[in-house]
Amino acid sequence: MNSTHLMSNYGTRALTLVRGEGSRVWDDQGKEYLDAVSGLAVCGLGHCHPAVTAALTNQADTLVHCSNLFNIPHQQELADKLSAISGLDRAFFCNSGTEANEAAIKLCRLYAHSKSIENPEILVCEGAFHGRSLGALSATWGSKARNGFAPLLEGFSHIPYGDISAVEAAATNESIVAVMLEPIQGEAGVVIPPPEYLHQLRSLCDTKGWLLVLDEIQTGNGRTGSYFAFQQSQAKPDILTTAKGLGNGLPIGACLASKEIADLLVPGTHGTTFGGNPLVSRAACAVVDTIETEKLADRAKEIGSWLVDQLQLRLGDLPQVLDIRGAGLMLAIELSGPCSELVALAANAGLIINVTGSNRVRLLPPLNISNSDAHMLLDILCPLIEAWEAK
Ligand SMILES: Cc1ncc(COP(=O)(O)O)c(C=O)c1O
Repeated sequence: MNSTHLMSNYGTRALTLVRGEGSRVWDDQGKEYLDAVSGLAVCGLGHCHPAVTAALTNQADTLVHCSNLFNIPHQQELADKLSAISGLDRAFFCNSGTEANEAAIKLCRLYAHSKSIENPEILVCEGAFHGRSLGALSATWGSKARNGFAPLLEGFSHIPYGDISAVEAAATNESIVAVMLEPIQGEAGVVIPPPEYLHQLRSLCDTKGWLLVLDEIQTGNGRTGSYFAFQQSQAKPDILTTAKGLGNGLPIGACLASKEIADLLVPGTHGTTFGGNPLVSRAACAVVDTIETEKLADRAKEIGSWLVDQLQLRLGDLPQVLDIRGAGLMLAIELSGPCSELVALAANAGLIINVTGSNRVRLLPPLNISNSDAHMLLDILCPLIEAWEAK
């Protein structure tokens, strides 16, 4: 089913999914799949979680939208919840991860101008993915996303990821105002920096008066084994962006910031029509509550490390398997060559997986995946990788 009236940016889509429940989805032919991608790290609670469905149906019957001209009690409640979890004082809600990063970039620029830095630079990382609007794209790395869209925004310098000496080497530039990065790079293929990296960055930012901006759009909301990934390193950012798992499928993004930084925004300087409307805010409150009450970050940590151990046991000795890694339920198997055909082979066998960076199998199952589904994931995926290896 490929409509000629859709733009061609997504290429051909092989499957048509029409229903979901928990970690399962069904296509239009009635075939059932175990979903180990969760709509790209979005449906962390699984599909159609009853708490989110109840919040949505109730709110859809009450008030869907009113715009940010009015108080939105569930938006305030959501800001309170995220502030209590993150330790950051203020929240701005928007509709996507990209928009959350735009807000973060704008805050960095306001911060720069408040310090009379006229042409501010933000340090960003090679391998980074921050979104596709012109601002976020300028922070994103890689010719595939960037080619053809020049001129991009000025004011971003890319440095190697995970290498504190590269940041120190750039530190002589007086125009730098912030470092913006993912605590674990997602689209690059689950790239995990050295354990001390975030902490070192925090210290350097403190010394230099730079802002630490963490893009937790993919790593947030329990995915890596704590509500936000930064909580595992105690490197509290000045600005944090999140989206994806926050709405479990409802479009919502958030930019959180310390009071001093957030207060640089005054009425009229930033905004959105839909962002944080009653429907999405109510759904996101249900998501946050469920992650907390069902201790889903802990669950992700436990089942994620079991999966990594099992994958090591079953695939670790294969010469073409270069690495198996993960944090919580953000996992990757790095192979020695292109392996995108595994996506169709897995779907054929009833499993949804993702391949990124051409040779990394990425797994992002729901945080509440059952033990038996985790076994099933391994039982489908491991033989496929063994067969790929044998070729
Ligand atoms: C780390 C990160 N930042 C930003 C984005 C962009 O988010 P969105 O697609 O919701 O605009 C993504 C999406 O994959 C992401 O993984």
